[in-house]
Amino acid sequence: MKNGKPWPDTDGNPIHAHGGWMLRHGGYIYWYGEDRRDNHYVSCYRSADLENWEFRGHILSTDTPAEATGGRFDLKLSWEKDGKTRKVNIERPKVLYNERTKKFVLWAHYENGMDYRDARACVASSDFPDRDFAYHGSMNPFGSMSRDCTVFEDGTGDAYFISTARDNADLHVYRLTEDYLNVAELEKAIYNHEYREAPALFERGGRVYMISSYCTGWAPNQGKWCSADSVTGRWGLLHDFGDKTTFGSQSAFVWRGGQNGERYWYVGDRWMGGEPKYFESTYVILEIRFDEKGDPFIEWSEETKLII
Ligand code: GAL
Repeated sequence: MKNGKPWPDTDGNPIHAHGGWMLRHGGYIYWYGEDRRDNHYVSCYRSADLENWEFRGHILSTDTPAEATGGRFDLKLSWEKDGKTRKVNIERPKVLYNERTKKFVLWAHYENGMDYRDARACVASSDFPDRDFAYHGSMNPFGSMSRDCTVFEDGTGDAYFISTARDNADLHVYRLTEDYLNVAELEKAIYNHEYREAPALFERGGRVYMISSYCTGWAPNQGKWCSADSVTGRWGLLHDFGDKTTFGSQSAFVWRGGQNGERYWYVGDRWMGGEPKYFESTYVILEIRFDEKGDPFIEWSEETKLII
């Protein structure tokens, strides 16, 4: 793929998987992301080689059926005003496969579509990676504001939801319930008043790393990386990652590939930033390298090939 240039799917249409996430399952990689056109919310593409992406459908839209789970979440995915249907905003969707329940569980950021004051997390799930999702609603985890978000599996079967809290000032780390359908515990509040957004986590050699952006809306800024002995452990200082604008991008997620999962790629969005397509992006994908101290870094390159 060419960084910062439109990336067409196998039908020749630009891939709309903004603020996205890739999940490896059953011989395919599924790429989920935002698509705010028409009545869509979340799109899903599938690939066997990480180069050719087949559009599979919109797994979340205004038509997705609502299905309450245990919690009393708000099940609205659209609302009426002046006789018109208004969309909500669903941002930064992430999908995990739960081995216990055999379900694909989606977590994302929810807003009412008019402003960013709801600051909620939302959940959906399906028996399939690319269809038949049911929407389980939105809520403020343990009463907290929750905006930019990601998920992280620690390899023991536990999964975590990480999101910005307190008007983006801090990051919260929540452990998910065993079925991944709710938050079980607020494990930690980290990076007090640092306004870190767009968190993207990965594990390497037993350490957990996080790449994040600063909080400047759709405009790119200096990315930072930090690390901890575990996701709920002691997080260290923030260090620069990429250049002053993270090469004109904002972090979405990290792809881990290579024969033994020893290679890592930063995947970011280069947001259009202005009307009418402010919420669309091209992609910036750069291999993460590690210096002699083991510190991660990226360098600009025009083209990148992701490896399974
Ligand atoms: C960014 C955030 C995006 C979107 C945008 C809205 O900071 O990372 O996901 O919420 O703000 O202005």
